[in-house]
Amino acid sequence: MSQGEMPSPTPTPSCLSSLARTAMEASWPLLKAGLFQLDAETAHHVTLRGLKLAEKAGLLRLLPPLAEAAPVTVAGLRFPNRVGLAAGLDKAGQCVNGFGAMGFGHVEIGTLTPRPQPGNPQPRLFRIVEREAIVNRMGFNNPGIAQGQANAADRTFKGILGVNIGKNFDTPNERAAEDYLLGLRGAWTWADYVTVNLSSPNTKGLRDLQQDDACRALIRTLQAEQKRLAQQHQRHVPVFIKIAPDLEKEHRRSLARLFVEEKLEGVIATNTTLSRTHTEGLRYSSESGGLSGAPLTARATAFIAGLAQDIDGALPIIGAGGIMSGADAVEKLHAGATLVQLYSGLIYRGPGLVRECVESCSSGLADAARR
Ligand SMILES: Cc1cc2nc3c(=O)[nH]c(=O)nc-3n(C[C@H](O)[C@H](O)[C@H](O)COP(=O)(O)O)c2cc1C
Repeated sequence: MSQGEMPSPTPTPSCLSSLARTAMEASWPLLKAGLFQLDAETAHHVTLRGLKLAEKAGLLRLLPPLAEAAPVTVAGLRFPNRVGLAAGLDKAGQCVNGFGAMGFGHVEIGTLTPRPQPGNPQPRLFRIVEREAIVNRMGFNNPGIAQGQANAADRTFKGILGVNIGKNFDTPNERAAEDYLLGLRGAWTWADYVTVNLSSPNTKGLRDLQQDDACRALIRTLQAEQKRLAQQHQRHVPVFIKIAPDLEKEHRRSLARLFVEEKLEGVIATNTTLSRTHTEGLRYSSESGGLSGAPLTARATAFIAGLAQDIDGALPIIGAGGIMSGADAVEKLHAGATLVQLYSGLIYRGPGLVRECVESCSSGLADAARR
């Protein structure tokens, strides 16, 4: 080096990880263009395989560590930030570390059923690109709870791991509680929380378990088992229930009342909708299944606002449904959610949405506190 020449600055680890994140986010438009050439389910598998390969190649280690922003304790668990991955994207729990590396504070895997099942025949996943929406009737295709446990065993993710459980398609509703008990037992030693999914529209009769009497009986059965498992394993695992945005107002109110009475630890609102408002006439809109993404944003936010009034702070709400921007995430918090979850937004906006939501939630809460 000649005299007076400045040494080129050595990149620090934090500088490298910001670069890696910027590269990941900047490559999204190109990646999305490629993935959207494939049918939706193939694109899904390619993405998960790519994420797993990136992990094996050590690329995830280049990304910055988990973002601590507006951490919060919910049901006794400390969530490092407000933003989580909604169930259904990593049904088998194969990419917990990959999604964790995107900046999620919690990752919910599943829905996992007691026995493996193939789900509905394909095609069963459709993009309505004009509205940034998805229609799916996957039908809980999953490898079963035991394989889910095996898959998630390589977890290095430091955030919170949720396990979403359901019943097998051929288990009648009268025996649904047995499947949920198997799910709870199967997840107990490795899940941070368990979500009882009563709201997928793609398993016949599942949403009927949202009827007050059925729901109350299920909660009581699960709580008795929670007590037993807590004694056996010396650890408590909170249980949340996930509900649909299509409940009538009166039904939402009566469910909220019983959640409070039964001391439920948390409610996830919402799952996909059967409504096709905002997508009528578009290709794939009339495919049967649940609709998610941008057309669900306002409906889910209004549902959460109503639910928050019903519940009046007695239990936490985890808000999901059409979060396509940081502002949408903040709106869910203002409507009464304590945490938020994304699925369809990640498909349309890419991994940059996670950081955007984490930062917006943190600054949105700070602004609200100053007001
Ligand atoms: C393809 C697909 C599969 C899904 N699978 C599940 C599932 O297995 N269990 C579940 O509780 N929710 C499932 N969901 C619902 C999401 O977790 C989320 O509640 C819903 O999509 C609304 O959020 P979004 O608009 O951000 O996608 C699925 C959603 C999609 C799009």
